[in-house]
Amino acid sequence: MNRRNFLRGTAILTCGLLPGTPPVSATQVQAFSLSAEPGQAQLVPEEYPATDVWGYNGLVPGPELRTRQGETLHVTVRNRLPEETTVHWHGIRLPNAMDGVPHVTQPPIAPGSAFTYEFPLPDAGTFWYHPHMNSIEQVGRGMYGALIVEEPDPPTVDRELVWILDDWRLDMDARIVEGFDNRHDLSHGGRIGNAVTINGEFPDIFRTRSGERIRLRLINAANSRIFALEFPSHEPQVIAIDGHPVPPHPADSGVVTLAPSMRMDLILDMTGSPGQKFPVVDRYYRQSAYRLIDLAYEEAPLRANLPDHGIQLPANPLPEPDPESAIIRTVELEGGAMGAMDGATLNGKWQDIRALVRQGKFWAINGTVSDGHVLDPLQHLKPGQSMVLDMRNNTAWPHVMHLHGHAFRVLARNGEPTRFREWQDSVLVERHETVQIAFVADSPGDWMFHCHMLGHQMSGMMSLIRIKA
Ligand code: C2O
Ligand code: CU
Repeated sequence: MNRRNFLRGTAILTCGLLPGTPPVSATQVQAFSLSAEPGQAQLVPEEYPATDVWGYNGLVPGPELRTRQGETLHVTVRNRLPEETTVHWHGIRLPNAMDGVPHVTQPPIAPGSAFTYEFPLPDAGTFWYHPHMNSIEQVGRGMYGALIVEEPDPPTVDRELVWILDDWRLDMDARIVEGFDNRHDLSHGGRIGNAVTINGEFPDIFRTRSGERIRLRLINAANSRIFALEFPSHEPQVIAIDGHPVPPHPADSGVVTLAPSMRMDLILDMTGSPGQKFPVVDRYYRQSAYRLIDLAYEEAPLRANLPDHGIQLPANPLPEPDPESAIIRTVELEGGAMGAMDGATLNGKWQDIRALVRQGKFWAINGTVSDGHVLDPLQHLKPGQSMVLDMRNNTAWPHVMHLHGHAFRVLARNGEPTRFREWQDSVLVERHETVQIAFVADSPGDWMFHCHMLGHQMSGMMSLIRIKA
């Protein structure tokens, strides 16, 4: 099914060429159009009916937007949903006005109207797009797509694949179960589904040949589900996390862990023999491990020896935080079921936990519960300043903290320095874990900082960092 590339953009060359003067800079603009609208998708096997979804161009996932590093992305989004929406370009370092946060960076796109986003793409990598309005429901109904920014000179592979992982809560007629804001989900691990899809389809068999080298771009678009994928008898090499290159290395204990909104680029060398079959297993929730897909080897090998081309990606042009001058801030993640929070500030007023729960609020950051996107900043920074956030998860649940418009280095976990000081834009903070991150506040504006478990985000776990001269 080649729904991926049919919108491949019209390339408009916009360089200010005057006769007789050499071109100063030639920027290639990739133009796309997206329509947020209802549609149908066959999410589960054919014995079930298709599911009513919301999608970009009615599709799940939405069209893949594929561009090159240094190009400018131009996307017109038309809203044909029955409610307001926006599009957030997750992980892209862009001007604040293009970030897609309703009431903060733009007015919401009303039903029947449109908004045009345009911004340059400084970094290569695997990114994605999704609404930032009523996200728990809009993303939950299928609104998301991949945004792939290619390196000028990508590593040589036989095949490149994008797998967008999602999970759905469906009834026996494959209808989406309503009640996105049910309190049990909000106060616990979020809305976990009962049907996992890859690119909007029920995964079954992935056909390959021995000797094949695959670049696999994984994106976790699920509302709350964390994936921990094992590839038995294979040794996937991680080459990028959240789009940003990392020295190639085997996944920790052979398990590829991906919290909501995170991406991982893998090089998968197909080392099995012709005719063999290996299940890829998701073991994050140990009681309910399941087979995601089978890697099935065809009879004819592709080649006898594995390719030995380099797989290290060139670094993205990220500003290096300065630990000496950095402002250090503790970030306490609080609340939730089995938590110790007795109250927190909501809309400027301290309220006890029962009052918060009555308003559907369960989570706080540094004692403050968010209500919508318009918030008092957690932190003010001057452009160029370095910042260290020392996050502590004081809750009984994992969270995945995402910062808009920047990439941060993950410096330490539970006080132990990380192996690669990975660049990420979203980081999993396990229950009772501490994680230290650092970044340079190089882009002026109001940037959201929130848990990407969408039920946690809507029930209080969101804040904002203001960067202003
Ligand atoms: Cu992927 Cu604030 O979002
Ligand atoms: Cu959370």
